Amino acid sequence: MTQLYPLKVHRKPKTIQDRIALCIVKFMRLFADAFFKKRYGHRAVVLETVAAIPGMIAGMLRHLRSLRKIEDDHGWIKELLDEAENERMHLMTFIHIAQPSTLERLLIIAAQGIFYTLYLILYICSARTAHRLVGYLEEEAVVSYTQYLKEVEEGRMANCEIPQIARGYWNLSPTARLKDLIVVIRNDECKHRDVNHQFSDMLTIE
Ligand SMILES: [Fe+2]
Ligand SMILES: [Fe+2]
Repeated sequence: MTQLYPLKVHRKPKTIQDRIALCIVKFMRLFADAFFKKRYGHRAVVLETVAAIPGMIAGMLRHLRSLRKIEDDHGWIKELLDEAENERMHLMTFIHIAQPSTLERLLIIAAQGIFYTLYLILYICSARTAHRLVGYLEEEAVVSYTQYLKEVEEGRMANCEIPQIARGYWNLSPTARLKDLIVVIRNDECKHRDVNHQFSDMLTIE
């Protein structure tokens, strides 16, 4: 599998909003690292349930804005809804690789309620901060999948079979295994990172 996007990208914060977004993400990272440690499969399942939220909220709000202002959205809505669907497919894939515990299922429900509400409010108040936040979240997702890949490559985690749903969605060969899957998913996260940072930059210029 080929790496399509540069891995080590960090968008330096330039405004106070950027710094706030970065601080929130770094705080969330601390919590995730402490909770999941090296259980990367479980980490992926739980965090993908959250990752699939922002694209749907942003897509919905930009859809409403387009209707309200009777203005074209220049492809943003589709990009954002595609992102939400892509994140949901990450989840539909990882659920075959790791099954969340009862505690994790409760965490997923609580996280959805909290994150959905806060992200909706944030997007209404400052869309550019909301996209920046996702840009930074995706930077962390790339780091986490790189760590996961290293565990598999160095034999500490099994390079297991992957589900059929993943082969179909990413058009992976019949011989593809977990290692190949992590690379294509990490490519997706790189794309989300770049798209969201770019959207935030475009809103800053506006
Ligand atoms: Fe994802
Ligand atoms: Fe993502």
